Amino acid sequence: MSIKIHKPYYIYQDKNHAFIWLGLDEAEAEKGILTNQYMIIDHGEAILLDPGGYYLVERIVENVEEIIDPDNIKALFFTHQDPDVVGSLNILLDVFPDAKIYISELWIRFLPHLGTLSLDNIIGIPDDGTEIKIGEVKLKAIPAHFLHSPGNFHLYDPVAKTLFTGDLGAAIYPRGTWYLFVEDFMKHSKLMEPFHKRYLPCRSAIEKWLEKIRDLDIQVIAPQHGAIFEGENVEKFIEWLKELEMIGIDLV
Ligand SMILES: [Fe+2]
Ligand SMILES: [Fe+2]
Repeated sequence: MSIKIHKPYYIYQDKNHAFIWLGLDEAEAEKGILTNQYMIIDHGEAILLDPGGYYLVERIVENVEEIIDPDNIKALFFTHQDPDVVGSLNILLDVFPDAKIYISELWIRFLPHLGTLSLDNIIGIPDDGTEIKIGEVKLKAIPAHFLHSPGNFHLYDPVAKTLFTGDLGAAIYPRGTWYLFVEDFMKHSKLMEPFHKRYLPCRSAIEKWLEKIRDLDIQVIAPQHGAIFEGENVEKFIEWLKELEMIGIDLV
């Protein structure tokens, strides 16, 4: 299947399950850092991952509706509290009124400032993580605190063997450059380095995360910004993180 920039792309698909990238609108490049949104479907139910800011809503809803009835969006998962992650929350609650919102319990008290009238649907994820059942799959919210937010989670899909890592793995493309999958890892790492060195606070946050993911079978790492890692690039990315020095507090 070829990649069309503004259309959904299936990263994984079988009879009952799919992990889908939700497209990109070229015009969004003018409105801030480029972001990836994903949807996981299992047995007819779906969850959206970091559905993002205000300007993305139209394209996301259009692409979701092409695939699934909006009533079947059962949950929205937020890695953390940044505007590029939660910015459209109050609009999305109108479009998907039955969806449960999953976010670190640290951030719940901040959400009313988005104009969110009701907190009834919001489920605070405890520091140790949780399971989120969608259809018949139990997705795992994996603690990734301080990478970069103090209350931060990644989401592991055990069927697609895909780990959604939010801002971890983010790359910022030079103007006019875009690709969905990493090809030349060395070249791509140069686009990741400045972001990780400044937005991650310290090495110990990375060490704790490495411990949490050690036993997961990960075939794909899907970040919120930049390109997706698959095959040998998954291991290359993990090795690159292990060697990343002089980050965060070391620099300021
Ligand atoms: Fe962030
Ligand atoms: Fe982000």
